[in-house]
Formats: sequence, structure tokens, C-alpha cells
Amino acid sequence: MSSPFTRRLDIEHPLIQAPMSGSTPPSLVAAVSNAGGLGSLGAGYLEPQAILDQAAQIRALSDRPYAIGLFILPDAFEADLEAVAKAREQLDALMAREGLGVRTSMPAQWAPRYSDQFAALCEARPAVAMFAFGVITPAQLRELKQRDIYVIGTATTVDEARAWADGGADAVSLQGAEAGGHRSTFLHDAEDGMIGLFALLPLAVRAMAAYSRDVPLIAAGGIMDGRGVLAAEILGAAASQLGTAFLTCPECSAAEAWKQDLPRVEDYQVTTIRGFSGRAARGLRNRFVEAMPSAAQGLPYPILNALTAPLRRAAAAAGRGDLLSEWCGQAASLVRPQPAAELVARLMYEYRLAKRTLEP
Ligand SMILES: Cc1cc2nc3c(=O)[nH]c(=O)nc-3n(C[C@H](O)[C@H](O)[C@H](O)COP(=O)(O)O)c2cc1C
Repeated sequence: MSSPFTRRLDIEHPLIQAPMSGSTPPSLVAAVSNAGGLGSLGAGYLEPQAILDQAAQIRALSDRPYAIGLFILPDAFEADLEAVAKAREQLDALMAREGLGVRTSMPAQWAPRYSDQFAALCEARPAVAMFAFGVITPAQLRELKQRDIYVIGTATTVDEARAWADGGADAVSLQGAEAGGHRSTFLHDAEDGMIGLFALLPLAVRAMAAYSRDVPLIAAGGIMDGRGVLAAEILGAAASQLGTAFLTCPECSAAEAWKQDLPRVEDYQVTTIRGFSGRAARGLRNRFVEAMPSAAQGLPYPILNALTAPLRRAAAAAGRGDLLSEWCGQAASLVRPQPAAELVARLMYEYRLAKRTLEP
């Protein structure tokens, strides 16, 4: 299973556990990296000090390479305070109707400052930095390269893959329409960035062939077992990036109600949702999504995300999966709850088994 990509990253398997902000604690990241994959800390919602603390925790548990993933965002946001007040009123009323004794509050900030998060990432110096929602600047690329950090950019279209290749990324993670969590789309409307992975991969392979250097492509979206990892490899991927498959690991910090709902999810119930965060994301269309108040629907990311955060925390504590943001990919019900190291071993066993059936 050794390839130029795995050798460059010094990992055993062509397998990346996706950064999933809010759900990838150090114990999960370290378990995957120790098992020979690339564990990733989703740090999109973490303050800089928390990034440093969690990176130190990963280091204490593993000396293997791991990644930190960030969302590329402006440092400050303008909110329409009148719209915010109206949305808060409606969200509070919804929570009261649902019997959850929680109210929204005005957060001290709408999101952690991206440039401070970036500085913390550089200080933590993981083997790999992964980015979504945009492209890093040339100065940021220089800072990462000075520290010998491998850069993976996320793309949902061929244009975005080119933008990352032009921007100096070492590799590009292709987020197919099937993928769980927030859409990374940054050059197009979210609806236009919904390309299925089986179309996106070969298209991006062709586009990357025009570059004089090798730009490995990583496949993400709906991959739940070793056959999927092999299928992605056959279509030209250097590795597969799985998010949803790791959500039911005991090390994953996703709410219990969310973990229990995943095996029962029907494919048609997994849709694109803006209602929790203000940005298109794939997840389970549950009661909250159906009842989303009109005033909240118009608020952008990360304003709405910050407003619904305490509601989602309260829903998790109360075991109310129907009021949680249950992000997941289209193949969610194929989850196999088991420790992360066992899942990595199982995925690679299935991959080898499937590969053998192709041998003459
Ligand atoms: C709960 C959840 C949270 C996610 N958070 C992030 C994130 O913080 N950063 C990121 O680059 N991608 C994030 N993603 C997207 C993954 O990187 C990846 O594209 C996706 O999980 C692949 O599809 P799958 O879930 O079907 O495996 C998230 C996905 C999920 C399911």
C-alpha cells in the first residue's frame, strides 16, 4: 500500500480521518495516526490556545504524523443586529416549544479569529495542515513551508482544485457532493459545487495532469468501507478521506443521540442544510431543520452558527438528536461503531481483499 503519497507523509495507509470540527478530539486523532492512517484535528471552532493544547495532547498520545484542519474566514464579521434580534426571538420560542430550557445569547465574538488560529497552527507545527472554505495567501504558504508543513486544500470543483494547485498546495482534497459536514465551496454558489465524487475525481485528475508537478488528489464523500477506498484509488485518488465513518467510534466526541441516529438514517433524509450555521452543510434533515424559524434562515455563517451553538449544546446534553446538527455524508447508515484503530485495520483489510479480486 506504499505510494509516493504515503511515503511523503510517512503514513502506512492511504487513509485520512477527516478533520471534523467539534467531533475530533485528540484521542481520536492519535488513535488513527497510531493505526497507520492520518488522524486530523478539526480546529475550525477552536481558540488559538485550545489548538495548542489539543496539539500537545495529540503529541502526548502519538509520535506519528497528524493534521490540523482550519476554516479560512475573515477575522471579523458585520452582523445585521436587527436581523439577529429577530432570529434570537424566534429561536428562543422554538426551544421553549420543544421544552428545552435554553435561550440564545449574544456571543463575545462570532468566531475565533482566523489569523490567530493560523498562527497557533504554525506554532503547533503538525505534519499536515488542511484548509477549507477558501485558499491561503502566498505569505501563509511561505509560513507553512518554512516549517515543512504539508498543505492540503479542499476543493469541490475543478476550478477550486486549480486554485489550490496554483496557490501551491501539496495536495488537494476533493469534497464530493456526497460528503458530510460543511461544503467548502468558495468560487461558486454552494448548489453549483455539488459534483458527485465519481465525476469530480477523473475531471480533477485530467486538470492536474496539466501541472508540471505532481498534485496528489484525495477523495472525500460517502466512502464508508475498503471497497470505496479502492474505488477512489482506481479513479486516481492518492488517498481517501473519511469523516462520517469515524463518527461512531467511541473516541469521537459527537453526541450519543447523533451516533445512535446514524445507522438508521435513510439516504433521502441526508440533505443540504443552511439552518444550523448559515452555510450549506450536509446532514440529517431532522425536526430542527423542518421547524427552522424564518428569521434565522436569512442569517449568514458564522453568525447563525454562533447563535445556535448553545441550543445545539443543550440539545446534545438532553439527548435530543432531533434538535442537533447531525452532520453526515450520504452513506451514513453504513457506519460500523468500533474503536478507531479497529476501523482503520478493517478498512485496510477490506481494501486489500477487494484489490485481490482484481488480480488476474
Ligand atoms: C461532522 C463533520 C464535521 C466536519 N468538519 C470539517 C472540518 O472542520 N473541516 C473540514 O475540512 N472538513 C470537515 N468535514 C468534511 C470532511 O472533511 C469530509 O469532506 C467529509 O466528511 C467526507 O464525507 P463523508 O462524511 O461522507 O466521509 C466535516 C464532516 C463531518 C461529517
